[in-house]
Amino acid sequence: MDALFNFISNSSFSSLQTHKITTSLPFRTSNSLQLSSKLKSLSPVSLKSPVLNNRVLDKRVLKCVSNDEGLETSSDDGVRRKNLAVFVSGGGSNFRAVHQATVKGDVHGRFVVLVTNKHDCGGANYARENGIPVIIYPGTKGEPEGLSSSELVVALSKYNIDYILLAGYLKLIPSELIRAYPNSILNIHPSLLPAFGGKGYYGTKVHKAVIASGARYSGPTIHFVDEHYDTGRILAQRIVPVLANDTVEELASRVLRQEHKMYAEVAAAICEERVFWREDGVPIIQSKANPNVFS
Ligand code: GRF
Repeated sequence: MDALFNFISNSSFSSLQTHKITTSLPFRTSNSLQLSSKLKSLSPVSLKSPVLNNRVLDKRVLKCVSNDEGLETSSDDGVRRKNLAVFVSGGGSNFRAVHQATVKGDVHGRFVVLVTNKHDCGGANYARENGIPVIIYPGTKGEPEGLSSSELVVALSKYNIDYILLAGYLKLIPSELIRAYPNSILNIHPSLLPAFGGKGYYGTKVHKAVIASGARYSGPTIHFVDEHYDTGRILAQRIVPVLANDTVEELASRVLRQEHKMYAEVAAAICEERVFWREDGVPIIQSKANPNVFS
């Protein structure tokens, strides 16, 4: 598997190196800087944060600065700690994995609010136990306390959110929210998109379809969110083998282990402003260890 990963990452870097990148950009961007004569790099989201430069980030020493909301850490590169929102409908194991990475300091961000359509789901209870406010969306007969789409946008605006992470949230994200947070909403899906994605592909249905198809590889995808299910730009993927005698549960659990690792790594990258947009609209991640390497 390692050889396969190396092959894939080396191949994608080679193709990236020959890819022409210009300044004409289809997305909202905050910063741009010249990495090489061919590469323009762009931080997609935070308008307030300074540009991430080419320094190796491993050796940064975190320091504290104060703001209105109390203490907020920023790195000596001036990268501000990011405010994260998470949307869940179920157990929230991905949310827990990324939350624990924020607590350990592996992700330079903090969860400031959780949104759910099920007030007593595992993810919501975990949030409450950790002092993270919970918002119910959408309002339904079963969830009369839930907000409307426009109320949700107003409610979230109070948290100064940099990124929204969808982690097993089963409702479609309203277009008002996508417009309010352009290129700032990520989702994790348990198959290698664009295969086995779209409406109806959720939970065990995805893994069941993968096994039935005879595919020998599966794995999670993290992508930016647009107004349709599972069609936004792909940011990261991991390959997981599908074994000949796999049950749905076995495959699901193998994929989920990779989801937890990948979501924490991608959250670290967005919080450290290591996500850049290629001219053709594909988002890529700059390696932390080697800033000249992208995947
Ligand atoms: C994960 O498999 C994720 O890919 C999908 O929903 C599931 C959520 O699981 N979008 P959990 O609630 O994070 O455990």
